[in-house]
Amino acid sequence: MTEKLFTRLSEAPIVPLVQSNDPEEAVAVSKALLGGGLQVLEVVLRTEAAFDCLNAITNAFPKALVGAGTVLSAKHAEQAIEAGAKFIVSPGLNEGVVAMAKKHDLPILPGIATATELQTAWNMGLRTVKFFPAGLAGGPKMLKALSSVFRDVRFMPTGGVNAENLMDYLDIPAVVACGGSWLTPMEAIQKRDFQAIEELSRQALNIQNREK
Ligand code: 3PG
Repeated sequence: MTEKLFTRLSEAPIVPLVQSNDPEEAVAVSKALLGGGLQVLEVVLRTEAAFDCLNAITNAFPKALVGAGTVLSAKHAEQAIEAGAKFIVSPGLNEGVVAMAKKHDLPILPGIATATELQTAWNMGLRTVKFFPAGLAGGPKMLKALSSVFRDVRFMPTGGVNAENLMDYLDIPAVVACGGSWLTPMEAIQKRDFQAIEELSRQALNIQNREK
């Protein structure tokens, strides 16, 4: 599964967040993101119906690679995996979450923001992490400093990434993908303007392809 995730990310290295309390809406948002060319989605566990949304999306789009984000505990990781998550993302580093993902042989990207946190993750055998909150934790400069020391680690910066600074991160060789909510603005979702979401996905991929 890890290699499958990296293959998809090498084709479209952008991971949009899907946050919804309504499975039907979550499917519509996902359809727009996939329609815009993205292949990997992160459904965040921040609403009561998050697991139902995750389940609905994985059923509706069996070819997409759909993971769970904001996974705070081993129990939530287990529930997310039951709902169809194919990878797990956390804002921080938690042994129980890592162990649950490993038990199911799924990629786990825990959040790290400091060298000490990264070294702890590295000693747990992890080689891919989320850099969070990227903008506040030092941005591309901090990421370059970390990757110059931890040479075999790949990063997914998330938190404050947008169309303007996307390439500042993606240009760093250790960056495997960027994550974020800029592709799924609440205003567009409230207005059910799914076309706008599809357009934002397409634009992000165009930015990335242009500078390849
Ligand atoms: C996350 O959960 O990864 C962050 O909340 C995303 O941050 P953003 O909203 O700034 O993209």
